[in-house]
Amino acid sequence: MRNILAVVSGKGGVGKSTCALGIATAMARKGKKTLLIDLDCGLRCLDLMADVSESLVFDLGDVLNGRPLNDAVLPVPRRHGLWLLAAPYDTKSIDGEALERLLLSADYDYIILDMPAGTDFPYIEAISDIVDFIVVTCGDAVSVRDSGVAADYAARFGGHCRLVINKYTRRHLKNGVYSGIDDIIDCSGCRLLGIVPFDDDCIRKPFSIFHRKNKKVKAFSRIADRIYGYETPLPKVKRIEKGK
Ligand SMILES: Nc1ncnc2c1ncn2[C@@H]1O[C@H](COP(=O)(O)OP(=O)(O)O)[C@@H](O)[C@H]1O
Ligand SMILES: [Mg+2]
Repeated sequence: MRNILAVVSGKGGVGKSTCALGIATAMARKGKKTLLIDLDCGLRCLDLMADVSESLVFDLGDVLNGRPLNDAVLPVPRRHGLWLLAAPYDTKSIDGEALERLLLSADYDYIILDMPAGTDFPYIEAISDIVDFIVVTCGDAVSVRDSGVAADYAARFGGHCRLVINKYTRRHLKNGVYSGIDDIIDCSGCRLLGIVPFDDDCIRKPFSIFHRKNKKVKAFSRIADRIYGYETPLPKVKRIEKGK
């Protein structure tokens, strides 16, 4: 896959920001200099999730208006090698060409874009030649159907599009709340990149994403390996849930 990845979904709340942060953290842990850009203007959250909101002064809007990138990127204190560029609070439109220039000139091994839900990104055409897409879904019927819509949208731009199934539990599979993994993949229409287990710690201990011994962290690590192109077989769901 390319080294600029846009994390998208059809439905909101499926875990794009969590997966963007989890994958970026895994990459930084593996020694890749990684920049996470929050593109969810107006509803930014990664500054809080990455624990940098207290030191935030400039954001993506300032950089697109000419401020040097280094003035605005913040090192993530809990993860060496990871930097964050926060989204502007006001929902002013993002200029696609300025964004493309920024992405091409930024000196990072990987850049992860945390996108808003849906498929309405006027700037996407300008950056479509340089990004690949990661579509995030849960297992419920609505987010699965919407993942197909998001994947179709991404496919229009020609780059690779891979699927992450998030918040997965066998309990939901057994009681019919979630579809089976094969059905989810079929409905999305894209290749599977990884499965991330449901983990209460996402809410109870938000910084658990930086802890090595957390059950979703291994899933993010395998996803990062697959992005680099390594053969990383999918473990049984039971093992994924146990954090193996
Ligand atoms: N694997 C997971 N297990 C449990 N809760 C999760 C998981 N991933 C995300 N969440 C929770 O789901 C909610 C929405 O996640 P978020 O990453 O903000 O989604 P999005 O960016 O798609 O709106 C948050 O409360 C988050 O903590
Ligand atoms: Mg989000």
